[in-house]
Parts: sequence; C-alpha cells; structure tokens
Amino acid sequence: MCGIVGYIGARNTLAVLIKGLESLEYRGYDSAGVSFIQNGNLNVIKKKGKVKELYKAIDEQGYDLSLKGKNSISAGIGHTRWATHGAPSDENSHPHLSMGGKICVVHNGIIENYVELRKFLKKKGYEFSSDTDTEVAAQLIEYYYKKFDCKDFEGAVQRALQDIVGSYALCILCVDYPDKIICAKKDNPIVIGLGQNENFIASDIPALIEYTRDVVFMEDNCILIMTKDSIEIKDVHGEVVDYEVSHVDWDTDAAQKGGYAHFMMKEMFEEPKAFEATVAPRIKDDVIWLEHFPCGRDYLSGIDKINIVACGTAYHAGCVGKYLIEKLCRIPVTCTVASEFIYSDPIIDERTLTIVISQSGETLDTRNAMREAQNRGSRTLAIVNVIGSTIAREADYVLYTAAGPEISVASTKAYTTQLACVYLLAIKFSYELGKIDDDRYKQLQSELLQMPEKLTKILSEQNKIQRFASSQFNAESIFFIGRGLDYYLSMEASLKLKEISYIHSEAYAGGELKHGTIALIEDGTLVVSPITQDELCGKMESNIKEVKTRGATVLAIIPERFADKGFSCDEKFVIPDCDELLTPILTALPAQLFAYYMAVNKGCDIDKPRNLAKSVTVE
Ligand code: M6R
Repeated sequence: MCGIVGYIGARNTLAVLIKGLESLEYRGYDSAGVSFIQNGNLNVIKKKGKVKELYKAIDEQGYDLSLKGKNSISAGIGHTRWATHGAPSDENSHPHLSMGGKICVVHNGIIENYVELRKFLKKKGYEFSSDTDTEVAAQLIEYYYKKFDCKDFEGAVQRALQDIVGSYALCILCVDYPDKIICAKKDNPIVIGLGQNENFIASDIPALIEYTRDVVFMEDNCILIMTKDSIEIKDVHGEVVDYEVSHVDWDTDAAQKGGYAHFMMKEMFEEPKAFEATVAPRIKDDVIWLEHFPCGRDYLSGIDKINIVACGTAYHAGCVGKYLIEKLCRIPVTCTVASEFIYSDPIIDERTLTIVISQSGETLDTRNAMREAQNRGSRTLAIVNVIGSTIAREADYVLYTAAGPEISVASTKAYTTQLACVYLLAIKFSYELGKIDDDRYKQLQSELLQMPEKLTKILSEQNKIQRFASSQFNAESIFFIGRGLDYYLSMEASLKLKEISYIHSEAYAGGELKHGTIALIEDGTLVVSPITQDELCGKMESNIKEVKTRGATVLAIIPERFADKGFSCDEKFVIPDCDELLTPILTALPAQLFAYYMAVNKGCDIDKPRNLAKSVTVE
C-alpha cells in the first residue's frame, strides 16, 4: 500500500526522502512524489511510475540528491501511492497542494466522506485538480487555516479532522511553518524516528533504520507536531499525551538484498534461521514457554472454542493451525478469512480465544476482525511479525514471529514462522490439556528443533525445482491438489504462484476435483500434488491417476519415506522425513521456490508483483 516519509533536520532533505521512498517500494505503488518548503514556497514534484522517475524529475530541476549534499530545505514529506480513488497519474499522485498554496498533504487510507466534503469546499470556491479523496484534506485544512486568519496551523488540522470520516495517516506541511510537520493518525500506521537535532516520519520501519533505531509508534486519533528537535503528541482535544520510545534491533542488512537477485530469494534462504529464532528460545528444558501468554490448564479450562482470523498467506497458516489444534487438543476451531468474519455474526463470547495472525500487524481487515471479536468479549492472542504494530498492541497477548523484516510482497519466511507459532501453541495446549504424554510432548519439540536443518537441506536441492520450473513456465493454468494438511498447503502454494507469476491456479482438495473441476484437466495441464500423509497417500494416488488419465503432467512433493512408493507422477521432489503432523513446514519451501522460478522464467517483477501491496490497510 501507499508509503509515507517525512524529515526535518540538517541532512539533505530531498535525498533522505528519496532514499526513504526507495526503501518503501516493496509495499507496492504506482506513483511517487515529494513536497518541501523553499524560499517561502511550497514545492511539489510528483510523477506517475516508479521512484526512479521521480528521482529523474527532481534531478532535472537541478536539486542535489546525494545524501552528503547541502540542505537548503528544512522540512519535507514524500509518498508512494497505490491507487484507490482515481487512476495512477501525475495529477492523482501525492502530495496534494491546496488551491491557495498554503497546505500540502500526503495520505494513506481512505477519506470515506470525501464526496460531501468536496461539495462543501466547491461551494466555498475551491477547485480540485485530482480525482482523489486526499485532495479534500489539503483543501479543508487550508479552508480552516484561512478561517483562523492563517495563524493556527495545528488548530486548522484539529478542526479539519472533526469533519473527516475514514482512515488516515496524514503528513502535512504549511507554507508559513517551514520548520514543522504535523501528522494525524487513524487506522493507518505512522512511525516516528527520533534523531539528534533531526526527526523522521515513515509509514514503515525500513525507511528509518538507516538513521535511527529509536522509534515511537503513534496511537490512533492523535496528532503529532514535529520540529527538528522536538515531538509533541496530542489527542483530539488538544491535550498532550505520553508516548513510549521503542528500540528496533533489526540490522540494516536485513532490509537489503545482500547479493540475492530478489528479496524473495533472500527471504526463502533466511527461513531456517527465522524458524530457529522463532522456536528455539521458546523451548527450554523440554518445556515450551510462550512469554507472558498464560496458557496453563487454568487458562485453557476457561476456553470452549478457538477462532482464528487472518488474510491471505496468514489465513493459510491459520488453516494449518485449525487442523493441528483440533487434532492435538480436541477443541473446536474455526478459521475465517478476516474480511468475511466481520459480517458473519460470529458465535463467540468470553469463553472464546481469538487467534489473529498477521505479518505486518496492520492489515485493516484483520484488525477489524480482531476488534469485532473483542467487542463480543473474546480473548485475543496475536501472532505478528512487526514489533509494536497495531494488532500487536491491541491484542491481549502477542507472540512475535522472529522472521525479521519481510520486504518481498510474497510472504515466505513470515508464513514459515507463523506455522512455527501455531505448532508451538497446539503442542503446548495439547500437553497442558493432558491430551499428549511427556514422551510425545518431547518428541514434537525435538521435531520442531530439527526443522532448520531440514529446511537447509531443501534449499541445497533447489536447482531441481529450478529445472522443473524452466520446463513448465509456459503453463496457462496449474492445479494444486492435496488432502488434509496437504490441502491447506496447496492453498498457500497456489496463492504464491498466482501472485508473483500471474499464472492462473487453483487449489483443490484431492477428493473434490472429480465433483466438477476435473473438467478443466486436459492434455499437458500441470498438476502439483504434495503427498505427505500416510493414511491419505493411497487416495492421492487414485486422484493422480484420475488426472493423468486425462492428460495431466504431475509433480509430486513427497517425504523420503514415500520415495519408493511408485506414485504415477511424472516428477518428484523429495523432502526430508519428519513427523507427518509437521510436514507443511517443509512442503511450503519447495512450493515457494516453484512459484519463484516460474515467475523468474516469465520475467515477472518478483518483489513487487502487479496490483499488490505488502501491507493492505484498506478494506
Ligand atoms: O501482513 P499480513 O500478514 O496481515 O498480510 C496478509 C496478506 O495480505 C498477505 O499474507 C498476502 O496474502 C501476501 N502477499 C501473500 O504472499
């Protein structure tokens, strides 16, 4: 989604803004722009297309863009836009300047009542130069600023916010206050980076970590007044509120490609380390410890059911969680796509535990689902990657995945570490409830601890998948079929392939194909089938035969112990053996590698697939 940066200080402001926007490119966008005050004027430079187009435009106007360059500008704001209201174009790009040239605004989120506000402002003589909802914010703030005799920037922002309905991270400049940036936040993240005689703003941490590790996560319904040496946060009534400074310990390398062709590849190679960092510190002396989450027998006896909500890849991790918890704990679990959950009139109460899964911790659908569950009295536990994110702060308890920053839009290491957390939870709950004995408890812990080594082995054999993908990348449609846990993995494999290679794909439960979809199988159709469950492999062999008879080419992903089973597939990729309950952790990686190489062969933009955004903060 859209990205925001802001800076006040002695560094070359334009260089800091451009670098910041580059580090937010992974979020997905279609235009970029900056605004800054110089010689008493508010300047705006913006362009449809990538940040490099913007860089060229700024350069052509004679501005120095080197980080060591001289700074003649104090405050500046920048934005990468992911179009919602109005097509991608120069005019619709942010920043938006008010008609009188007093106020400039960048915005993430959606102003829901922009049509009424636009009508109101038009009646007052304001003319609009874009189709966006955001432009009304700039005009409205200017309208109140003028009403207050151009003397109260902060008051004008506070007053305009009373009229605005919707969600926003707003970053605002006023021509008469060259040393000040004001921000307002509701339902969209703003992180403040604290420096020495300089301060930063960003929608996401990677834009800041080169300069500072001390950050403040702004709360909803607050405004920030920032100068180079001060920050003040106020609530809607103008009362000053306290804030907490958090320290981010991600290293800067984590946000660089480090020699890999793409972030996605780098992040797949980080899976063994990320999995270990998520699991190993939580297993001590044959006991699973889940930080402050009080999941002993007492807590669990107060829970009748578990409700999992998430979106996309995180939802697929939730599906595996549902299977595991039901199998190991015999507690009923529902797993629902967050955007559907909200409108499903869910049957939950204070005896329900809602588990919310999100890499970013900012996905609006997931946040809304969590709030809906909280309003109905449910307890909440969040599995989140980004420290200090909104979902992490608003849940009763949080279990962090230790994946480090995930830059590629396609989620890989975040998924594997989300699985790590659902396994830790399911095994811990099961033991506390007396459903597994000491031996099984220890054995499952030991299996989890062996996963990093097995993931490393899969990575060492990735050239087999690369070879297979280079013979198949012209496929027009690919089916993933599996049963039980392999079905949930198929859903994730299919999503990964679609989102980065743009090849049509569907995931089907092995037994369901014959109830309609098998009509689509014809000569040469590619079918990929994870087969890892002892009880189900006979049935899967029948399903493979069904599609082979109709001309399909089949790739099977199987554990070593099935290697001699003689499935009727055309190709096999063999993963290390493990307890069959844990196989999704290992089958995910070949599926991700397959999607990656298919997309590379097709020449797709791997880390920034079309139409997609890393963090989805609109409904
Ligand atoms: O940040 P979240 O985990 O809440 O994001 C949820 C989905 O948008 C995300 O998993 C998406 O499906 C990924 N791009 C898939 O690779």
